[in-house]
Amino acid sequence: MKDKIQIKKTEGKLGVMIPGLGAVATTFIAGVLLARKGLGRPYGSLTQMGTIRLGKRTEKRVPKIKDFVELAELEDLVFTGWDIFPDNAYEAAVKAGVLRKEHLEPVKEEMEKIKPLPAVFDRNYVKKLDGPNKKTGATKYDLALQLMDDIKKFKEENGLNRLVMIWCASTEVFMKPDPVHATVESLEKAMKENHPAIAPSMIYAYAAIKSGVPFINGAPNLTVDIPAMMELAKQNNVPIAGKDFKTGQTLMKTIIAPGLKARLLGLHGWFSTNILGNRDGEVLDDPDSFKTKEESKLGSLEYILQPDVYPELYGKFYHKVRINYYPPRGDNKEGWDNIDIFGWLGYPMQIKIDFLCRDSILAAPIVLDLVLFMDLAQRAGFRGIQEWLSFYFKTPMCAPELYPEHDLFIQLMKLKNTLRYMKGEELITHLGLEYYD
Ligand SMILES: NC(=O)c1ccc[n+]([C@@H]2O[C@H](COP(=O)([O-])OP(=O)(O)OC[C@H]3O[C@@H](n4cnc5c(N)ncnc54)[C@H](O)[C@@H]3O)[C@@H](O)[C@H]2O)c1
Repeated sequence: MKDKIQIKKTEGKLGVMIPGLGAVATTFIAGVLLARKGLGRPYGSLTQMGTIRLGKRTEKRVPKIKDFVELAELEDLVFTGWDIFPDNAYEAAVKAGVLRKEHLEPVKEEMEKIKPLPAVFDRNYVKKLDGPNKKTGATKYDLALQLMDDIKKFKEENGLNRLVMIWCASTEVFMKPDPVHATVESLEKAMKENHPAIAPSMIYAYAAIKSGVPFINGAPNLTVDIPAMMELAKQNNVPIAGKDFKTGQTLMKTIIAPGLKARLLGLHGWFSTNILGNRDGEVLDDPDSFKTKEESKLGSLEYILQPDVYPELYGKFYHKVRINYYPPRGDNKEGWDNIDIFGWLGYPMQIKIDFLCRDSILAAPIVLDLVLFMDLAQRAGFRGIQEWLSFYFKTPMCAPELYPEHDLFIQLMKLKNTLRYMKGEELITHLGLEYYD
């Protein structure tokens, strides 16, 4: 079958630029380096292990996704990052305490070479942190120019063919869209005037998009979820995606809630609480950063359960999300969910979940897939919001006139159908009536 869309070949190396060399970023980098050496397996990654069914079930065509669409190879990834702490990626990984020594030692030398560039940082947006490795500039616009310079140098010095930027830095304080976010002109003017509605993450995103580099937002910050950035992405033919990696408790929510709705089981309430002790947990201990995360975590149930369509089942449920900073657990979070449901004749039932998860272990494959798929999107000429990558996000970005799709299974179908569409394959509807004619 002929390709429906012209997709540029993957030539040369792909640079991965990461604001925030913390737990998630270093777990991702170490994993890729280990996988390259055959010392670790990329479990959890759709691009590395997933398959895609093509055509009719009787055709038995089920290639691996990476054999179906051309993606950058792990060997071709080159990493850099920015952080307010000067620790190299190896030191940062040791401090994050996610991976054991046996996994870090074999890649120590390569990780030590990844030294963070000075960050664009402002304590007003992340209150619990501060560090010495920062850029200075008269205006936020000047800082963006410095980042653009970093991007250019990284590309030139490493002889890279293409770049992707992925935000793995701390969650910023809760911000509402502001009138200065309306257009590219007002955004640039605000940057030049040091307007408080311009957060550091927006400065990185602006620098990336202006440089023609796809931008992914792994945190719940507003960042590119504003009209000015969407316009800028279109102007520069750059794909953008966000926001907030879907791991842990929200992943479970978007697995279970579609099942309850499919069977028309009602919901009285859903209480989620968790303890975590990493730096992310410490940042989220600040009420303003927590508010950003809370909003991101609350949205999914409302959209999946559609209380307006099913008022009797989901019109009145109580939804609460708590995050508690508890240092002894480090990155090994424990999340509890208590779900009060009801069935036939209104009889109540309960579901309890105790998920002993590892945050960065769940996030790392998402980072890898997003980097590879966003590079593919750019080579395929896709620009603006990449809704087909909603599968990876807690608060998927979508066109202003739409509501976000949160159901994990619909998201996966959308992702795979987008790949089929790119390659000119038939979209799969699961109808299958032709077998019974
Ligand atoms: N791990 C998960 O499951 C998961 C899921 C969804 C979202 N996230 C988000 O991913 C982000 C990273 O998580 P983590 O566990 O790696 O956190 P972390 O605290 O270990 O790492 C974040 C790093 O970002 C740095 N930083 C903060 N502001 C910066 C700036 N302006 N520029 C450059 N560096 C900056 C910090 O110094 C820190 O080293 C957080 O925002 C988190 O909320 C994580």
